[in-house]
Amino acid sequence: MILDTARLKLRLLNTSDAEMILALLNEESFIKNIGDKAVRNLQDALNYINNGPLAVQAKFGFSFYCCVKKDDGQAIGISGLTKRDGIDYPEIGFAFFAKYCRQGYGFESAQAIIHYANAQLAIKHLQAICNPDNEASKTLLQRLGFSFDKHTTLADTNQTVMLFDLNAS
Ligand SMILES: CC(C)(COP(=O)(O)OP(=O)(O)OC[C@H]1O[C@@H](n2cnc3c(N)ncnc32)[C@H](O)[C@@H]1OP(=O)(O)O)[C@@H](O)C(=O)NCCC(=O)NCCS
Repeated sequence: MILDTARLKLRLLNTSDAEMILALLNEESFIKNIGDKAVRNLQDALNYINNGPLAVQAKFGFSFYCCVKKDDGQAIGISGLTKRDGIDYPEIGFAFFAKYCRQGYGFESAQAIIHYANAQLAIKHLQAICNPDNEASKTLLQRLGFSFDKHTTLADTNQTVMLFDLNAS
């Protein structure tokens, strides 16, 4: 287990999360706001887990974590850190199933991750990106203390996104 919040446990993703990842990455809000990862079946989801979060964890010591509700053991989404070429600092990111949005889980998980990054991983500077029309993500980032820095174009997708900064030091 990586983190414990009032209502959630955050743990590393593992191969048993393939079904959850398959569903999450095909949520309408995920495809609209993050992108289509072309994960169409359980094998694609396993490949995503292994080549995405688990590879990032092995390389950098952090990743997107599975958020599990303590009261019923339900996995409700992912929240954590990644590092992308072209973005200078580790990046916070989150995605929840629509039925669990607007219940404070994004804020609760991200606040714990920021503290963990700072206290356990000695990461003093975090960044985040989001689509200019993603009001939920912009509001969440601002509530977490991030400030808008600039618009930037992602090298891999050529997409223009808003870049946010949080300097914890
Ligand atoms: C973005 C996302 C993670 C937010 O998570 P969440 O659990 O719904 O957020 P919270 O309930 O913790 O809310 C945090 C703040 O954002 C606000 N917020 C949440 N959804 C919002 C929306 N759709 N529009 C405007 N504000 C919104 C909340 O009101 C709250 O602010 P407040 O405390 O001032 O009221 C969630 O909407 C999601 O998973 N979206 C799909 C994937 C995605 O877009 N990920 C981000 C990619 S950059």
